[in-house]
Amino acid sequence: MKMIFDPLTIKNLVLSSRLVRSATAERLAMENPEDGEQMGATYAALARGGVGLIITGHIAVHPAGRLDPLMAGLYSDQQVEAWRQAVALTHVAGGLLVAQLNHGGGRSRPVGDAPVCVSCLPDRPHDPMQGAPLDFAMIEMLISAFAQTARLAQDVGMNGVQIHAAHGYLGSQFLSPATNQRSDEWGGSIENRSRFLRRVVQSVRAAVGANFPVGMKLGACDDDPAGLRIEDALRAVTWFQEDGLDFIEISGAFRSDICRRKVKPGVSEGYYVPLARQFKETLSIPVIAVGGFRSLGMMNEAIGSGACDAISMARPLIRRPDILNVLKQGGASDCLSCNLCLLHNEPRTQCHAVNRISGKSRVKGGAK
Ligand SMILES: Cc1cc2nc3c(=O)[nH]c(=O)nc-3n(C[C@H](O)[C@H](O)[C@H](O)COP(=O)(O)O)c2cc1C
Repeated sequence: MKMIFDPLTIKNLVLSSRLVRSATAERLAMENPEDGEQMGATYAALARGGVGLIITGHIAVHPAGRLDPLMAGLYSDQQVEAWRQAVALTHVAGGLLVAQLNHGGGRSRPVGDAPVCVSCLPDRPHDPMQGAPLDFAMIEMLISAFAQTARLAQDVGMNGVQIHAAHGYLGSQFLSPATNQRSDEWGGSIENRSRFLRRVVQSVRAAVGANFPVGMKLGACDDDPAGLRIEDALRAVTWFQEDGLDFIEISGAFRSDICRRKVKPGVSEGYYVPLARQFKETLSIPVIAVGGFRSLGMMNEAIGSGACDAISMARPLIRRPDILNVLKQGGASDCLSCNLCLLHNEPRTQCHAVNRISGKSRVKGGAK
């Protein structure tokens, strides 16, 4: 039975453990050498802590796909140099680094560029989709942008790329009938709604060659009756696998509570494991489950029971990049899942719960 401390092979990468750092937007725009150093130091700490694979925070493939001015990108010369530095520091520390490629679509708030969307839905409750509806030429341009950034990621020494198709961004927006209301070949049936992501996988694969790992983070459920159905998501991933995908990480999309609060070790952990299991039963590529892992027991159960091949974490690794040391001694993460890390505007490379906890003495012995 496989466990969290066992190695895992993804294509040509040998992960020293089955603990993956899930993408965590660091809020470093990567437009100067200082950002490259700070990013590299963050990843080096994760690598030294024994994380088997580090996925970067989401990286914009095009300026119009940025969610805020501090979102990292990889399309300019300055960004290339900053990322080269971050990759080098990660590798010196023994880490493997995968670039998460993203475009915010109708959720983008770019500086100086007009946002674009799959279907313009400004009155969508809680989550409006704004911008110019994409025409065919713009869709082709965006597919090329994913491929170009993948190629740049390979050039700067990344160990792979992950296409972001979760959490309601452009990939999710195409896949979900809740946000894709197009009547052309890019909308309607699941064949049409998955066309954009299929073309992205194919174009990225063509840009990086056969041997470079290409993965995806999939928003597999919308928790919305008008949203993506699991049957459709399972059909789409078999096509992505045929198109050349090497691994997949299972998360949620629209209205899905992707960063659940107050996760309790041993009680409410691993909330996407049942979903991940369905993808594991359907696919032959490695499946990673994310969402609320906190204790060694739950991680080993998810992997050992065959629901997934690896698990990934975000918040506990902001709190402690060397969480594997705690787990080795039988402990669990003391991350409160308070989500203060999500609220902060400055670089999200450290846990902000410490002050809150010690200031109010909410959790006895909780803050280290
Ligand atoms: C501060 C913060 C930033 C995040 N940034 C990203 C991101 O850039 N891309 C992404 O796919 N998920 C992002 N996530 C979601 C995480 O990858 C993960 O799916 C989620 O936090 C649940 O896992 P956890 O319980 O281990 O935190 C972020 C989460 C947090 C807390």
